[in-house]
Amino acid sequence: MRSMPYSKKVIQHFKNPHNQGVIKNADAVGKVGNPVCGDVMKIYIKIGRKKVDKGGKAQEGKDFIKDIKFETLGCAAAIAVSSALTDIVKGKTLDEALKITKDKIVKDLGGLPAPKVHCSMLGIEALHKAIENYKNKIIK
Ligand code: FES
Repeated sequence: MRSMPYSKKVIQHFKNPHNQGVIKNADAVGKVGNPVCGDVMKIYIKIGRKKVDKGGKAQEGKDFIKDIKFETLGCAAAIAVSSALTDIVKGKTLDEALKITKDKIVKDLGGLPAPKVHCSMLGIEALHKAIENYKNKIIK
């Protein structure tokens, strides 16, 4: 039996990944390894502050992802997931970014072959770690 091929979108992201690389002065970094295959992913985030405007007055700002980059030592699916995920969360507030699920990413990519679905967890976990890392930093 032939296994399901990658969707067009997965191949596009894999061949030309968006937001790949390092942010040198990142506000936080999240690093995870995939226990299934041993692949590793790192996500770098730079945080900005969105002004929440209530009744014409500038109020407390909301932290949002101003910039995001990833480094992935992993399979084609992991690279495509990182590329799609970074596109989706860029510009989102931290709370919005934390709500993105792996199903959303897989759907955005037009599906992943079943044995590759675990690869999509890597991106979400690295993002969550980076955000957690950022929150821990500002509390201290
Ligand atoms: Fe390791 Fe896909 S096989 S992340």
